[in-house]
Amino acid sequence: MQLEGSVGVVTGGVSGLGFGAAQRMVRHGASVVMLDINEERGKEATEDLGEKSRFIPCDVSNPEEVSAAVSGALEAFGSIDVLVNAAGVAPAQRVVSRDGVLFDLDLFKFTIGVNLVGMFDVIRNVAAAMAANDPGETGERGVIVNVASIAAFEGQVGQAAYSASKGGVVAMTLPIARDLASAGIRVVTIAPGIMDTPLLAGAPQELRDSLARLHVFPQRLGTAEDFAHLVQAIVENQMINGEVIRLDAAARMPPK
Ligand SMILES: NC(=O)c1ccc[n+]([C@@H]2O[C@H](COP(=O)([O-])OP(=O)(O)OC[C@H]3O[C@@H](n4cnc5c(N)ncnc54)[C@H](O)[C@@H]3O)[C@@H](O)[C@H]2O)c1
Repeated sequence: MQLEGSVGVVTGGVSGLGFGAAQRMVRHGASVVMLDINEERGKEATEDLGEKSRFIPCDVSNPEEVSAAVSGALEAFGSIDVLVNAAGVAPAQRVVSRDGVLFDLDLFKFTIGVNLVGMFDVIRNVAAAMAANDPGETGERGVIVNVASIAAFEGQVGQAAYSASKGGVVAMTLPIARDLASAGIRVVTIAPGIMDTPLLAGAPQELRDSLARLHVFPQRLGTAEDFAHLVQAIVENQMINGEVIRLDAAARMPPK
């Protein structure tokens, strides 16, 4: 599938990796609907991207909001061809802290609720919409790109909930690709390393440098543009399906 003339939905689309994907999609001739809880950034993002973009406020962990947002995206541009699932939260806590405090179970459920259940809910709603698309020459109707993390494989201290949620994203990639194959929809997951997004923007240079050194080559932080480039490659290359791709310059995270 080509980006030109396609319609994309990007969750977490107003910031960081999601916004990078939305920018690249619009630059290459797609229309984009950004779903996010950050309404203030949502306005700025649509001002940046122009008339081929829309913002719909949506908490991916709220099923009514997800269903309404997917309907809203269809109303705006008529179909959905590409879905990028980038919305995510990354709280950190030890299972038992040094002073004996237990990991907050509500925080664990919240993390799974947004990163895994919320993502799955968006996938099922968007897949139903994609299944109604006219197939391309090869039978393709849509492409879904999920964002996991290398924390799915090498979670660090404090990342039990985050790693569990991202491990779930990795594990569901193949069965969802198999489920949706008959509709001509591909499903691929990107597992980024350490990316220079608003999360890290305010960090001291020393910390940014030490994080960059965890990348083996090139020894720099990843960028939203690196991510968006891979999203485009996945959309365009029909043989990539049911796979998890690390975008981490050969990093393997240490315990802390
Ligand atoms: N930055 C990194 O180093 C890194 C590494 C690996 C994986 N990731 C993953 O990449 C994705 C994007 O992260 P980012 O670094 O661009 O962070 P970011 O904070 O810049 O973007 C995340 C976006 O998700 C939105 N969001 C949060 N909860 C939401 C919800 N319930 N419903 C809808 N939107 C919600 C936020 O408002 C924000 O705009 C996340 O899934 C994150 O786990 C990031």
